[in-house]
Amino acid sequence: MEEPELSYSRAFKQITKSASSSLPLAKILNSVAKSVAKALRATGCSIMLLSPQKKHLDIVAAYGLSGMYLKKGVLDVNKSLHEVMEGKTIAIFNAKEDKRTQYPQAADMEGVSSILATPIFQSGEVAGQIRVYTREPRRYSHTEKDFISTVANIISVVLEKAELQQALEDRYRENMSKSRKLTEIPKLPPSSLRPSTFGHPSEEEFARLLDFYRIEWLYEPRSFPLQWQGDRVTEMFTPDFYLPELDLYIELTTLKQSLITEKNRKVRRLRELYPDINIKLLTKNDYLKLLAKYGYGSRGATKVRGIDRVLFSHTQIQRRVKALAKQISKDYAGKKLVLVGILKGVICFMSDIMQYISIPLDIDFMAISYYGNNGETTVKITKNLDINITGLDVLMVEDIVDTGMTLNYVLGHLASQGPSSLRVCTLLDKRVRRLVNVPLHYVGFEIPDEFVVGYGLDFHGEYRNLPFIGVLSPEFVDEAQK
Ligand code: IMP
Ligand code: MG
Repeated sequence: MEEPELSYSRAFKQITKSASSSLPLAKILNSVAKSVAKALRATGCSIMLLSPQKKHLDIVAAYGLSGMYLKKGVLDVNKSLHEVMEGKTIAIFNAKEDKRTQYPQAADMEGVSSILATPIFQSGEVAGQIRVYTREPRRYSHTEKDFISTVANIISVVLEKAELQQALEDRYRENMSKSRKLTEIPKLPPSSLRPSTFGHPSEEEFARLLDFYRIEWLYEPRSFPLQWQGDRVTEMFTPDFYLPELDLYIELTTLKQSLITEKNRKVRRLRELYPDINIKLLTKNDYLKLLAKYGYGSRGATKVRGIDRVLFSHTQIQRRVKALAKQISKDYAGKKLVLVGILKGVICFMSDIMQYISIPLDIDFMAISYYGNNGETTVKITKNLDINITGLDVLMVEDIVDTGMTLNYVLGHLASQGPSSLRVCTLLDKRVRRLVNVPLHYVGFEIPDEFVVGYGLDFHGEYRNLPFIGVLSPEFVDEAQK
């Protein structure tokens, strides 16, 4: 047998050669996986990267493992060898029995006994991992662990290089097309590092649309056996996508009727065999409708015209609003709470937060208008409160605090009516633009100096009905002000 040193140096030669090549990222990583498996005389090797929301692992390259094993199911960072995500190199002696393996049964079927796993770092944080699998139970030496960590470091450099290249390409594309169409939805950085090899262009388009709306996705994470002959699986079905936030599998279809009929049959069979699994078969037209149903409305270009990017998705907003409501319910327990909002921008935030607050409360609204007078803009109250707030606990609910002028004026007005307490809860805080220092007790998100719309916020009376918060493209703002 070959000396270990010799097989390592052979592997490093091969790995650094493909790492410095101009091959696509997926090809480089596959070749690295192969070299690693050979050098360690292992059955297989896989390389995984964290999904953008950092909750799942995406297998981006593999060698020597069956399709069934690779698509055994969604890999949860907290359940699948979680210590690796804390930065540790770990060796599992018996995968079938170790509590750290998320799918012990799949390991058993694949004949995997031992697993060696090490983290891949990016900018000081764990961004993924590399795993080595063997059929025979095995204990790994320090030299073998060192070898795999060094390979992980080379992968970090490869990823960094890919990221830089993607940034350059994006900038080039941006310069080439001054006016962006919907089909050219800007890629978010994470997707450039997810070298999923899509089976069809429509799948890539769907993935980019999901990226744009910041909906997490995993490409083909699980194969479902549909038919068996004895122990052998004779028919399988692998849905294209899994959306963890919606707990939904998606299979996209082309327009060919014969294929749709066949897929319909498979989906029906899958539902019979796995009643807990949510799956949807979607035509392209369907998937635009589906996004609309989940509040990511995009029945066409019109709804997102002028939106540069989504800052907070519907799900992200709801999660944050719930957390604020929980804190408020706790802080005001046993008090007489009145929520006061200024029309109209606050309506979405107000209606959501009041439903998540668990203590009794009342709401009221004011309306104001701004008007110019000798070059000075003054703010005037056009609709006052209906309730008498004297002696009550008042919480001002605001959509966004920008310069702070509006809020400062309104707080002065409310304070003069002698409430028992007066505090402020704002969804968005554009702190860098602040001119008047107003105290904010509850803040949803701090945002940069950009014009945002959606979730109640408008631009010249438009965009209020978007269920997410997006940044209006600066060119669009300039254009409208001409
Ligand atoms: P302030 O008096 O400068 O703090 O302005 C607050 C008001 O300006 C908000 O209630 C909004 O109506 C409006 N506003 C400020 N920034 C934005 C934005 O980015 N999008 C939409 N409206 C905004
Ligand atoms: Mg407002």
